[in-house]
Amino acid sequence: MANLLEVRDLRKVYEGPDGGVEALRGVTFSVGRGDFVAVRGPSGCGKSTLLHILGAMECPTEGDVRFDGLELGSLHSDGLARLRRRQIGFVFQEFNLFPTLTVLENVMLPLTLDGAAEQQARRRAARLLEEVGLADRSKHFPAQLSGGEMQRVAVARAVAAQPGLLLADEPTGNLDSENGRRVMQLLSGLNRSLQLTVLLATHSDEAASHAARWLLLRDGRLVAQGENPQSEKSP
Ligand SMILES: Nc1ncnc2c1ncn2[C@@H]1O[C@H](COP(=O)(O)OP(=O)(O)OP(=O)(O)O)[C@@H](O)[C@H]1O
Ligand SMILES: [Mg+2]
Repeated sequence: MANLLEVRDLRKVYEGPDGGVEALRGVTFSVGRGDFVAVRGPSGCGKSTLLHILGAMECPTEGDVRFDGLELGSLHSDGLARLRRRQIGFVFQEFNLFPTLTVLENVMLPLTLDGAAEQQARRRAARLLEEVGLADRSKHFPAQLSGGEMQRVAVARAVAAQPGLLLADEPTGNLDSENGRRVMQLLSGLNRSLQLTVLLATHSDEAASHAARWLLLRDGRLVAQGENPQSEKSP
């Protein structure tokens, strides 16, 4: 079966007051279905830029991204928005929950925005909150949760629409090691049980060790890639 993602010669230049910043300088790789990939490298090497482009949140300056055989550059804004709603989940370092919505409403949101019936969205969101161990927090607001709990809600929201791809940008960056491990175990579990493809940008060795494969960026270039030794993380 074809790869889920094919990335070819991706370049990104951000125009700024002092000329352009070359955030990506020709990055090529592919990601298979069900793969779990850690994107590593020093601050400023282009990890977030790469994830934003793969998540159709930013356009590359040059190069192509094929998602499930579909060339992202050939899609108009409607097609890109549909892809983001249905096919791609995103988890951020800062959780990015909506503060005025309850935990349950946060998880329901991607479903209702995509036209799901209220009852159906509510049922699915409740089931997901059970899966992430937060059923008893569904009526709380984000500010009433710990960081680790907020990130588990964010993961539930990111997978609510059953996307094929989950992009996680430093999802454990604001968590202590115990909560970070819990979030990573949640992502590994989803990767295994749903065959969810996961791309994770991280500075953490612990977080990266949950992935099956790693890519190393430096100065906007892919300088190395490899596989992790068969994961001791499996139960
Ligand atoms: N919107 C922007 N405008 C201008 N330059 C940007 C923008 N976003 C990122 N950059 C620059 O692009 C380069 C890559 O940034 P990026 O955020 O992708 O790095 P990163 O690997 O995610 O770093 P970190 O580990 O600190 O999160 C950096 O030099 C950064 O300053
Ligand atoms: Mg970043």
